[in-house]
Amino acid sequence: MEAIRKVAIVGAGLVGRGWAIVFARAGHDVVIYDGSAEIRATVIDRVGASLEDMREAGLVDAVEPIMRRVSVVDTLEAAVAGADYVQESVLERSDVKRAVCLEIDRVMRPDAVVGSSSSGIPASAFTQECANRARFLVVHPVNPPHLIPLVELVPAPWTDAEVVPWLRAQMEQAGQAAIVVRKEVDGFVLNRLQGALLNEAWALLEEGVASAADIDLTVSHGLGYRWSFMGPFETIDLNAPGGIADYARRLGPLYHSIALARRDPAPWSEALIAKAEAERREKLSASHLGERSTWRDRNLMALAAHKRRTGT
Ligand SMILES: NC(=O)c1ccc[n+]([C@@H]2O[C@H](COP(=O)([O-])OP(=O)(O)OC[C@H]3O[C@@H](n4cnc5c(N)ncnc54)[C@H](O)[C@@H]3O)[C@@H](O)[C@H]2O)c1
Repeated sequence: MEAIRKVAIVGAGLVGRGWAIVFARAGHDVVIYDGSAEIRATVIDRVGASLEDMREAGLVDAVEPIMRRVSVVDTLEAAVAGADYVQESVLERSDVKRAVCLEIDRVMRPDAVVGSSSSGIPASAFTQECANRARFLVVHPVNPPHLIPLVELVPAPWTDAEVVPWLRAQMEQAGQAAIVVRKEVDGFVLNRLQGALLNEAWALLEEGVASAADIDLTVSHGLGYRWSFMGPFETIDLNAPGGIADYARRLGPLYHSIALARRDPAPWSEALIAKAEAERREKLSASHLGERSTWRDRNLMALAAHKRRTGT
């Protein structure tokens, strides 16, 4: 299979426009389509503003040569027909993804590859009826994809075997870090790990063990320090003098008893959600969410620049 040159972005919300930056930064031509006329009218400015911030953070040398490779079209066909690779990033609903994938399927080159940004719905749930279904898989990014490099490649049982190694290499060339999820499980790897932490955070809040702010601080000033450059297995390998097996023997019983105490999880209740919402809105009003997202992105840029310098 040949290297990607032309990419179609279908759905240009939060994630789709981050993907546009990833591929244009890698030197590919990027054609964007979104079902919303308002998004189509504003996406170029939004991509340009993110790239300007990235330039200030030292993550790209110049904005204009990257922007020259990005365009917007008014129909899905105009974006997809000539593309080597299509990144679908529409709503996280299998009926919506199914309809969009069928539309892509009708106009795509039969040898093109289609990655879905699906956060947790496997490709087999929405690509079954596509004539080119062997070219579809999930390519799940982390938001925002241009600042957090991980992508999960999750093939359906019918995805061509050659697609995953090819796409892994293409993603790495574009500056992303790809993992392969070998079985279709809901939530894949990333959201299953995030879900374990979130479920425990909600339970601790509900039981009054700590405030939402203090639970957040435990990650932002504790666990998260390590997590920006090492994962849970490497973490525990370094947290006991004899490495991972030593750690597992020392602390395994504690973690087992914690797991036993959480064997009957309840859904996040409306009362609990209201409690978290009240605490969060006291700290950050809803009208400041956008501003705080920009603050998050600037911190991610500084972190990315630091990781680039240190090779982590
Ligand atoms: N936001 C995240 O943290 C995150 C992270 C990773 C993956 N994802 C996944 O990425 C996908 C997109 O999420 P998002 O956060 O960007 O949502 P979003 O609501 O910001 O964007 C979705 C975009 O899709 C467009 N759209 C909807 N239906 C369409 C159609 N039929 N044809 C063309 N465009 C259409 C909408 O106009 C909108 O601009 C979802 O599958 C989501 O689960 C999201």
